[in-house]
Amino acid sequence: MQLFVDSANLDEIRHAAQLGIITGVTTNPSLLAKEDPSQPVERIISTIHEIVGGHISVEVVSTDTDGMIREAEEILSWLPEATIKIPMIPAGLAAVHQLSRRDIPTNVTLVFSPTQALAAANAGASYVSVFLGRLDDIGHDGIGVLRDVAEIWDIHRFEAEIIAASVRHPMHIVEAAKAGAHIATVPYKVLMQSLKHPLTDAGLDAFLRDAAKRQQRSVAV
Ligand code: E4P
Repeated sequence: MQLFVDSANLDEIRHAAQLGIITGVTTNPSLLAKEDPSQPVERIISTIHEIVGGHISVEVVSTDTDGMIREAEEILSWLPEATIKIPMIPAGLAAVHQLSRRDIPTNVTLVFSPTQALAAANAGASYVSVFLGRLDDIGHDGIGVLRDVAEIWDIHRFEAEIIAASVRHPMHIVEAAKAGAHIATVPYKVLMQSLKHPLTDAGLDAFLRDAAKRQQRSVAV
């Protein structure tokens, strides 16, 4: 399962990319709203692409099909490698359908049910983003929905890649990988949490202490 970072923050993205653990970035209007308002969106997105070089999802904010297509064309005019992120609404499906006929990659976002995922795949989506945390927040089973989507994919061999999105903690990453998601898009903070283990830190402390002790003894001899 590939890892993307779910962020529009350049410092976070630069660090995650340096570690070599991510192959892409997903952004959304809320993530972009947290960043420096003096920087145009296209500059932030282009810089992200320069840093990571892989997948980058850029979301439209129109709610009608023609508006989404216009925005997609505008995004592609300054970043031809962008994947166009489109909300899971009927007008969005029509936009995905049109864009897929032109071989433009799309990521259908805000998917909360297997029927929405199925519709997005049939419309021609390249990626289907199933939101885990937001389902859990309302007392539903996010991972359960992801498992159902992955089971349908196994049976019907859809080409669209499943992205586990709205990831809130490291166990979401584990469960998404076990469920068969192709990608998990993970906030930077959760990505860093997922690398930590107290036994790793304690083990390293002990190794470093012992190495220093040995060095002191060899100086004394
Ligand atoms: C997906 O691409 C979205 O950007 C993201 O995962 C949303 O997560 P949230 O529910 O934490 O806002």
